[in-house]
Amino acid sequence: MHKVLMATACLLSLQCTQGSALQVTDEERSALKSQSDSGSLAPELRLPAEDMRWWQDAKFGIFVHWGLYAIPAKGEWHMHNDKVAPQEYAKLATLFKPKHFNADSWAQAAKDAGAQYMVMTARHHDGFAMFASKTSYRNYDSGHAAAHKDFIADYVTAVRQRGMRVGIYYSPMDWRFPGYFDPKGLPDNAALMKKQGYGQVRELMSNYGKIDILWYDGGWLAHRGSDADAAWFWQPEILNAEVRKLQPKVVINPRSGWQGDFDTEEGGGPVTGPIRQKPWEKTFSIGPAWGYVAGDAMKPGQVIRLVVDAVVRNGNALVNIGPDADGRIPENQLQTLQGIGAWMRVNGEGIFNTRPGPFQPVDGVYGSTMRGKNVYVHVLSWPGDSLQLPPLQGKVVSASTLAGAPVRFSQSGGDIVVSVDAARRDAVDTVIKLETNAP
Ligand code: GLC
Repeated sequence: MHKVLMATACLLSLQCTQGSALQVTDEERSALKSQSDSGSLAPELRLPAEDMRWWQDAKFGIFVHWGLYAIPAKGEWHMHNDKVAPQEYAKLATLFKPKHFNADSWAQAAKDAGAQYMVMTARHHDGFAMFASKTSYRNYDSGHAAAHKDFIADYVTAVRQRGMRVGIYYSPMDWRFPGYFDPKGLPDNAALMKKQGYGQVRELMSNYGKIDILWYDGGWLAHRGSDADAAWFWQPEILNAEVRKLQPKVVINPRSGWQGDFDTEEGGGPVTGPIRQKPWEKTFSIGPAWGYVAGDAMKPGQVIRLVVDAVVRNGNALVNIGPDADGRIPENQLQTLQGIGAWMRVNGEGIFNTRPGPFQPVDGVYGSTMRGKNVYVHVLSWPGDSLQLPPLQGKVVSASTLAGAPVRFSQSGGDIVVSVDAARRDAVDTVIKLETNAP
């Protein structure tokens, strides 16, 4: 049979094993059965603080969800939510030949928005890998399928060329495997899925140069419980020990069942409360879903507000875009990125390379960041003509907004009071720079 036809037939048939190196050995089968039910802490895998510094300086990244699900355009959960059978869904792999895919234009859009890093879906829960994979189950990857392309290779190069850090999203779980839904009842099938996951993580950590972030997702089983609950199955401490050998400094998120180097908070809900201790990342999508769906996009101000609310609480923000089936970022999402970029060019000094404090945030009113002798007060809403802040150790020697507006301030007997003319305030966040005489 012709090579392409054969690959297509394999994609569509559940029986086909042609070209698939995946087979479970007796050893792997018994390893699976002997595991205990405990979550996985493995503190020795955590990066030391100095290796997390760049990530904490970076603050803002762009997430890209892109895969076969861009064709039906119903979001990345379409296969599962709409109960599309694997062999039916796999037909999308024969149709997926994006005409306008250009990793440079994505990376440039992210760079212009002010992003310091990107994270792209190398493989989502539907199981289709967006890279040329030797270990994909039934050759279900963009190297073997109609696209005949390694999208991750292009992406990695484009991001790196622009001086941004490179992140890869990978979902070890795969809806094509009945064993995912019943790992104890169908252990062989589940073990195949696990083997594919290990193989592909190895490939991603070996074939694309230095990877800065490994962003797992879906470390649970049968969509039940937490990622940590499924650690008995995935054995993330083994997987991530291998990852650390291949990429010693890669920053790893907590969704493999291992605690990870940072915490994640998902969705566009408000960010509130005090400064958090462990580094963490807020993640949400500009569009209606993570994967492409036509529809409204968040406005720049809404995104900036969440970014600022995360940063003043020791967080980063990873903001998602969902390119369409042809590889284009939807126009309204692009406009939002441009609006964010315009704001960042003026106010980024109070975001990037800062740390939260010295003031604890007051929900909906203000928060602060600092670097060296400077304190940046992010005023989100003005309680009146002026804003009163808690005492500072040092003496404020000058104050102005990053947009260049004058700031009236007083510092007598402890508390600091600042005010900015109403006409010169920023509708989302007026960033006031207080220069002090003490670090
Ligand atoms: C979720 C979803 C998913 C999305 C992700 C992003 O766990 O399963 O579709 O990719 O989170 O944070």
